[in-house]
Order: sequence, then structure tokens, then C-alpha cells
Amino acid sequence: MIPSVLPTYNRAPLEFERGEGTWLIATDGSRYLDMGAGIGVNALGHAHPALVAALGAQAGKLWHLSNLYRIPEQQALADALVEKTFADTVFFTNSGTESCELAVKMARKYWYDKGQPDRVNIVTFSGAFHGRSSAAIAAAGSEKMTKGFGPLLPGFVHLPFAAHDAVLSNAIDDTVAAILVEPVQGEGGIRPLPDPCLKGLRELCDQTGTLLIFDEVQCGMGRTGRLFAHEWAGVAPDIMMIAKGIGGGFPLGAVLATEGAASGMTAGTHGSTYGGNPLACAVGKAVLEIVGAPAFLDEVNRKAGLLRQRLEGLVASHPDVFDLVRGVGLMLGLKCRVPNTDLVQAGYAERLLTVPAADNVVRLLPPLNITEDEIAEAVARLDAAAAAVTRKEAGA
Ligand SMILES: Cc1ncc(COP(=O)(O)O)c(C=O)c1O
Repeated sequence: MIPSVLPTYNRAPLEFERGEGTWLIATDGSRYLDMGAGIGVNALGHAHPALVAALGAQAGKLWHLSNLYRIPEQQALADALVEKTFADTVFFTNSGTESCELAVKMARKYWYDKGQPDRVNIVTFSGAFHGRSSAAIAAAGSEKMTKGFGPLLPGFVHLPFAAHDAVLSNAIDDTVAAILVEPVQGEGGIRPLPDPCLKGLRELCDQTGTLLIFDEVQCGMGRTGRLFAHEWAGVAPDIMMIAKGIGGGFPLGAVLATEGAASGMTAGTHGSTYGGNPLACAVGKAVLEIVGAPAFLDEVNRKAGLLRQRLEGLVASHPDVFDLVRGVGLMLGLKCRVPNTDLVQAGYAERLLTVPAADNVVRLLPPLNITEDEIAEAVARLDAAAAAVTRKEAGA
């Protein structure tokens, strides 16, 4: 019999009832160290007092107001994002997937309005993940996500990850509207796109007029130690998708764009019932005020250095379990020599939560305000989990 919750997830048999910072408390009272943060969502951990206060204050005033009216909280968050980024304008969504939908529509409409209606293709890269809607799975293109869901939305061109310059420049012709890329692939196995590649993409787009879309749903909002990951490479996109961390756990996403890239999106061309609602935007503003502060990002970098260093040590002491550590800031991946899911499972026994990713990687995406002690504890628990996996492999 089909479960009452549609079984599209292989769920771990863990049930949590509350959270405190980097800790999740299970229904049996046991405490788990959360190094996954809801797959990079709980940027400030669980039940952060400033976010609880922002949500509570807004909940007592107004929950929902249609986009037929001006929403002061939405305006305030849009102003703050515009001030802190390359963008001139923002549309709020409820998820990364919805941000992907709009980014694709925006790029196509831009060229349509420029009198080039055939310029519709979006170039993407293998290992990409942009969400689960029809456009987002067509964008990623992998068999795992698309099989059985045809006919797929046309207009996506898939290139190898970090494609050689020549492959990429040959792919850009007058049918291409935009290049869509994650500066650091998350689901794809924590694979950072090297800075020269990001710079090269920007140059190619500048030469050809092609729009550059960054998907910073997972790698954005302070995760890599800069407010947005592309800032490390010193290049800016024309359009950017965000979600996850911006809401700190409340569903919120957005598309940020330059005035030029957004020029086709006039009144009536797009909309959302809930996107930019007062509750989400009140929380988003509180998150941005904390995460966007330079001193906070300095701390993220300091702690990221500490975690990275300890993980390098962990890899060195378990060469049979781990191959290497990679990633940027507090978006780190342990590429495994054993099945990554074995390590994630062994972590549960140590009351440690991590997240598997493609390419046999275990992801670490802790709350950005994780403490030094919690970093030490996480590495100690990973060490114990790795030892347990080694014993299991040896048949002990
Ligand atoms: C890079 C990236 N883009 C898009 C998405 C889709 O976001 P959502 O699950 O909020 O729709 C995700 C989700 O994991 C993601 O990591």
C-alpha cells in the first residue's frame, strides 16, 4: 500500500521535534549535530532568536497580502539585496525551482523583445542541479532526473562540466539566450567551478551578448564565505537565482537581475501568489542583516579554514575511507572511497547529520554560525563514523 506521504524520498528513520543552533533534538530526546542544515537552508542554525523574533513580530501583524498591493517587507528586502549585489531588481519566489523557472523565462523574453525570438537555448553543464520542475530537470538533463518525464522542455544544450574553452565557444551561437551555471555545484558533489572558468564565461558572454545566469541557490548567502560565491572570482552575472539560505528555513527564493537582463519582464509577464509574502520577507531581511555583515563573513571564513584543516587531517588518517576534501567556505565535500551512503549511515549512529551528493561525496553544509567546539565535535564524530565503516568493510 502506498504510504500517505508520497514515497519520493528514501527517508532515514530519524524524527526530530526541535532544534537549537547546530543541534537537532529527536523525539526520543537524543541530540544530533546537524552538519547538513536542511541541505544548506538553515544558514543560522535552528531557532535563531533574531529569526524567531522577526517571524513572530510579522505573524502578529500580517501573513499574506497579494502582490496586487505594495508589500513593505518585500520592498525592504529587495532594496537590501540590490544594495549588496550586482542586481538592480529582484523578484521573490518560494523556492530555488521557481527561481530557475523565472531565470529561464527572463532570458528568453529578453531576446524575444530584442527581436531575436529564436535565441532561446540555455547552455548548462553536466552534474548541474537546478530543481525539479519541468524546466529545471530539462536544464540539468541527467537521465536520473528526466527519465519517464518526457516530453522534456526543449531549448537546453548540455556541455561537460568545466568544458574546455573551445567546446564552449563553439556552442555559443545565435540560438543561445543564456549560460546557466552553479559557481559551486552542490548536488553534483561540491564541485567548485575554478575562478578562471567563471571569468572566461563572463568574457564569452560579454563578447556574444549572451546572458550569464548564476544558480546560487546552494552556494549563495554566505555559504562560501562571501555573500555570493561568484564574488570570489570578481565577476557578476546578469541574472542570479537564490533560495535556501536567504530564508534561514522559511521558504523564500528570489531572482536578482540587472535592469537590462530584466527588461522584458513587464507587468503581467510573471507572477506568484505567495512569492515575496510578508512573513518570508521579514525573515529574509533578518537573515541578510546578519549574514551580510562583513564581520560575520570573516568569521565564516575563519571557521571554514578550521574545518577544512581538520578534514584534511581526517582524510589523511582514513585513506581507505576518504579520497579528498574539496569545496569553498562552509560548503565542503568529502569524496569517499567507500560508498558515501555508508558514511552518512555510520554518522547517524554517531548522532551526526551529513548529506550525500553525486560523485560519491558526503556534503558538509553546517549552519554558518557553527562554533569552534561544534567543528571539533563534528570531526570527532566523522572520525568515529569512518572507523565504524572501516570495521564493517573488514567484516569485523
Ligand atoms: C543549485 C540548486 N538549484 C536549485 C535547487 C532547487 O531548489 P528548491 O529545492 O528550493 O526548489 C537546488 C536545491 O537543492 C539547488 O541546490
